[in-house]
Amino acid sequence: MAKGFFITFEGGEGAGKSTQIARLAAKLRAKKYDVVVTREPGGSPGAEAVRHVLLSGAAEPFGPGMEALLFAAARSDHVEQVIRPAVDRGAIVLCDRFMDSSRVYQGVTGGLDPAFMRALERVAVNGMVPDRTLILDLDAEEGLRRAGDRRGAGDAPDRYEKETLAVHQRRRDAFLAIAAAEPERCIVIDASGDMGVVEDRVTAAIFAALEVKLPARGRRQATPA
Ligand code: TYD
Repeated sequence: MAKGFFITFEGGEGAGKSTQIARLAAKLRAKKYDVVVTREPGGSPGAEAVRHVLLSGAAEPFGPGMEALLFAAARSDHVEQVIRPAVDRGAIVLCDRFMDSSRVYQGVTGGLDPAFMRALERVAVNGMVPDRTLILDLDAEEGLRRAGDRRGAGDAPDRYEKETLAVHQRRRDAFLAIAAAEPERCIVIDASGDMGVVEDRVTAAIFAALEVKLPARGRRQATPA
């Protein structure tokens, strides 16, 4: 069966994930790869319906367990409706946040039971584990500053941006701990400094990974024409 490549981008607020994904997608498309760009929470009609409930803070009063279940419901729909079909047809999927965000935001800083989180992950991901995960690593204070600049003066921070600096620092540490535990899947990218320099780091990491993985699977649609 034709098989593409599933890449997720993770990291704290303001790390520049969406900018880097857009630039990488353009580069891959220029090389004639079939590329699907998507994001979480959301990415499919069902998951986008849940996104607003989560990011507006409407689910917050019901506790982190409820939020984790909603993230998992959204992820399950996204995986089955969008990600798996795209990978099966041979596309490269670039996804802005995925299961590691749940591990970190709900599991670590949400304080949920690790066994509960593992069970939810297993159901939501249903075997669709990323081939590679790029963790864009940035000082938490700098990330919050960038997220604030991006938002502009008038707009309020969302449900997760509004949390304290200490919480964001714990999240950074938790992402780095995941990378250390799963070095074959995860690549830590230094997201500090100029966006063009970060872009070069992302490009180098992804093109190296594509070289290694796609020939081994018998390149099909994910091969440049
Ligand atoms: P979004 O506006 O997409 O921002 P960002 O640019 O930071 O990705 O917001 C997504 C928010 O949802 C972000 O604060 C992280 C949070 N989140 C979780 O808490 N758990 C999850 O599983 C996912 C996918 C996201």
